[in-house]
Amino acid sequence: MECLIIVIFVAFLLVGIPLKGSIIVTALQFEVLPSKLNSSGDSVTISWDGIESPSHYNWIGVYNPPESSDEHFIGYIMLNESSAEWASGKGSFTLQLVNIRAPYEFRLFEGTTHASNKIKDFEGNILPSIEKRWAVSTKVEFANYNEPMHVHLALTSNADEMRVMFVTKDEIPSFVKYGQDKTQLHLTTDQETSLTYYVTDMCDYPANSYYWRDPGFIHNAVLKGLDSGKRYFYQVGSDEGGWSPTFSFVSHVPQNEETVGFLYGDLGTSFPYHTYQYVQPESINTLKWLKRDFDAIGDVPIFVSHIGDISYARGLPWLWDEFFHNVQPIAANAPYHVCIGNHEYNWPQQPFQPEWSPYHHDGGGECGVPYSLQFQMPGNSSLATGTGAPDTRNLYYSMDIGVVHFLYYSTETDFLPGSEQYTFIANDLQSVDRKRTPFIVFLGHRPIYSSDHLAGVTAPVTQQLRAALEPLLVENKVSLALSGHIHKYERICSVQNYTCDETGKSPTHVVIGMAGAIHQPVDEPMPNHPTYPWFPEPDWSLFRTFQWGYVRLHATRQKLTLQYVGNHDGLVHDVIEIPSPDSFQDGTFVESEQQVSIFEDMSKSSSDGTKLSWWVSTLGLFAVFLVGLGIGATISGLAWRRLRAQWQQISPDETL
Ligand SMILES: [Fe+2]
Repeated sequence: MECLIIVIFVAFLLVGIPLKGSIIVTALQFEVLPSKLNSSGDSVTISWDGIESPSHYNWIGVYNPPESSDEHFIGYIMLNESSAEWASGKGSFTLQLVNIRAPYEFRLFEGTTHASNKIKDFEGNILPSIEKRWAVSTKVEFANYNEPMHVHLALTSNADEMRVMFVTKDEIPSFVKYGQDKTQLHLTTDQETSLTYYVTDMCDYPANSYYWRDPGFIHNAVLKGLDSGKRYFYQVGSDEGGWSPTFSFVSHVPQNEETVGFLYGDLGTSFPYHTYQYVQPESINTLKWLKRDFDAIGDVPIFVSHIGDISYARGLPWLWDEFFHNVQPIAANAPYHVCIGNHEYNWPQQPFQPEWSPYHHDGGGECGVPYSLQFQMPGNSSLATGTGAPDTRNLYYSMDIGVVHFLYYSTETDFLPGSEQYTFIANDLQSVDRKRTPFIVFLGHRPIYSSDHLAGVTAPVTQQLRAALEPLLVENKVSLALSGHIHKYERICSVQNYTCDETGKSPTHVVIGMAGAIHQPVDEPMPNHPTYPWFPEPDWSLFRTFQWGYVRLHATRQKLTLQYVGNHDGLVHDVIEIPSPDSFQDGTFVESEQQVSIFEDMSKSSSDGTKLSWWVSTLGLFAVFLVGLGIGATISGLAWRRLRAQWQQISPDETL
């Protein structure tokens, strides 16, 4: 049977004397089915039978390409992770395989406790031993290695455009066909650019070593002349290389009177085997709830912001493939906007390396190249790597979405007064038309405020960010400053110089690095660990939690609302509301009936918030007063209301 390959090892039987520490094998079967997959993400089942004395050290290596030597697996699974049946010498795994443009192969090893297996991964964990290889599977091929993948969108500087990016294995001319009728994608645009990068562009270990894998060619096309606020369907690819599934998005609405977005930092990725470093299984849960929101929201222009620490590939290229595969249901259906984090960029010789900096090896030798070429954000910020590799892009840019001016910046490159970035930020903030966009949201990776004890690691940057940028944020009345890096959610008050501003007119800071990355210890005192460092919550920190999740942003001309959604239950656990400067009359916030309606719904689902800021409490009293007067909520903000009505809690174990 073509797709059934059984490898039978008889060497031990022929010898008749088992090696010390080895198993006695009568007939070892090891197989993978099917051996040909139609598209990225299809599953295979790997099974084995006939191990007479199974050990906790038995394991399966994942190889791509098949020519890789035994020690250069891209991943591994221990047999004892399958099911209780493994102890009887048989078992199976079913794995989704992402198309990384080459066949896979699996190898079965006995593994030992021998000293030679003390090879460790990048985080100090002992890797399984490659000694005593028992079996090699057949190759698992994909039907098409030019299958278009990594599909993701971005807004451009023009309101009637949408950028589409995707990857194929070879440099083949590629296109986007699109239209407002899903069955008639009669409009076609061809790529503007197609490019790749090379191992010689990587600047450090492990990216520039044997972990390197070819990233394929990155295609970049722009759909132009789009009608405002319409849902467009599209496919990417070519007749030669094949076409993607059909995705869709709602086009940008210039001067829209509301803004709806989903924001987080530090997402990462996950897949069903181990590799050389920690991955982010909680990212799958976060994406699941985001997909729920996407499915519920209807034909509303939305966007996503992922503010640094994107894939956590850190020099392992197949993690970028896994990331784009997992995030594609989100990023192919809404503009996906990013800014740079330490894990895309940092290396010891990076151009901005001040004495106080903690910029070291966090980028895994990628030095910003995959990040810079796989995304294209608005603007033209660019910085030479100094290594001969392509310039670093997507460092700082701004755009108006509805009633909000968003300014993304880089905490990893020079932001000090006198730098190009500082000048851009200062000029951009001063040029905002507050009548058009009453709100300014400032987004960067590392926090300007965080009470987390891990903030101590990044404290030198935090201090420099606050010294350099807080005056600009205060002076220009920035509404909200969002950051990641700390893997928690934390709401800071309206603040300047560590002091809450009781008028609420200083920037509110929120840390949203809780999308999926590794759990960081809680901040509470732990009775069983009296010497463990913990930081009591300062006055300027209003709510913090270690639970993973994301935030929804909704803004009207009167008010910007942020909802923190926990990914353990998909429910709202904190709410922030920021009035626009125009909403104050004689120093008092005046709210419309529409705003009361939104506030009521949000307050019901914010029961886990330990503290609400002063204006939330004020608005609550005002809402009660209005309800008492019998003034019902009016029908407006239709998009937001429809979204709220359709949000449904789904089972946490449901897969994306
Ligand atoms: Fe980070």
